[in-house]
Amino acid sequence: MHSDRVRDVDISGIRKMFECAGEDAINLGLGEPDFDTPSHIKEAAIRALNEGHTHYTPSMGIPELREAICEKLRRENGIDAEPSEVIVTPGAKHAIFEAVTTLVDEGDEVILIGPAWVTYEACVRYAGGKAVYVNTSPEEGYIPYDVGEYITPKTKLVILNSPCNPSGAVYPPEVIREIAELSIDHGFFVLSDEIYEKIIYEGEHLSAGSIAPERTITVNGFSKSYAMTGWRLGYAAAPQHIIKAMLKVQSHSVSHPTSFVQWAGVEALKGSQQCVEDMRKEFERRRDILMEGLRDIGIECPIPDGAFYVFVPTERAGGDDVAMRLLQEALVSVTPGSAFGKAYKNYIRISYAVSTDKLMEAIKRMEGML
Ligand SMILES: Cc1ncc(COP(=O)(O)O)c(C=O)c1O
Repeated sequence: MHSDRVRDVDISGIRKMFECAGEDAINLGLGEPDFDTPSHIKEAAIRALNEGHTHYTPSMGIPELREAICEKLRRENGIDAEPSEVIVTPGAKHAIFEAVTTLVDEGDEVILIGPAWVTYEACVRYAGGKAVYVNTSPEEGYIPYDVGEYITPKTKLVILNSPCNPSGAVYPPEVIREIAELSIDHGFFVLSDEIYEKIIYEGEHLSAGSIAPERTITVNGFSKSYAMTGWRLGYAAAPQHIIKAMLKVQSHSVSHPTSFVQWAGVEALKGSQQCVEDMRKEFERRRDILMEGLRDIGIECPIPDGAFYVFVPTERAGGDDVAMRLLQEALVSVTPGSAFGKAYKNYIRISYAVSTDKLMEAIKRMEGML
């Protein structure tokens, strides 16, 4: 009854767990900052509503926001994009969907670095492509040192995500540089998902688009840096021919992101960035509390250098069903590692985008089970 394309895509493992959790459970499953959106950003949206920005906008997004994105990319990422090389999307997720459906044909190979965020494989499958995992391990800090070995003539796209969801790894600049240079040599594209770019504690962020602009689609958004998950605002920067093709997908599906939300995006990028730094510092504090708590209950795993997740090997605790047991027996909801690639069934992802009280209570509840 349903199309093969949709039948082959599973619903997100993260959502499944979230939907199973009862009210008493502490939710360390979702990747959502618990902060409110900074007030100057909310006020910009209210102002836009009052000024009548309630109509259709250009499908690419309003020029003011595309200009602000170009300035940001130039200033912070070394990417020299024109507004015609930027598309504003309803969330980074839709930018990824548009880019993958634009580039990937039936049978094309797409390299994902495991553990990889669930949506990448879903988009690749939807487009008819084949996901090829380059799996990283805690021993190597979840850094992909050998992507080159997986490239074949069928490789169309490599998806990079640094800082990484779920491992929190920040890839060293030389690793990013090597992959970007490979894209030039072999003629594949790189989708660089930089949504956690502002949440780095150790290490340096390098944008692949600053090295291989002709081969890179840089994706970013407002959800994580500005606590704007519900607003649905993201963007992609890429060579114009790719943006033009993505625009076809966007204009025939969602048209464009919500008009007044785009004005909030202008304020987020042009206004004070103190809120971003304040949230980053608070995430760092929470990370340290969680890591200390995990160490105290005998759990060893790499210290994440970015994002707000810890990816924990759970072999000793019995592997695959640990997430379900934690939920049922300890009332702590985490995400099963299998959501991030088949190789990770003996892992769980813990999100520390929650208050320190909740984190400490969760550690207490998990003691003994892990
Ligand atoms: C790695 C990664 N990319 C993209 C997104 C999607 O962000 P948005 O809310 O902008 O669609 C998420 C959200 O969890 C994510 O973890």
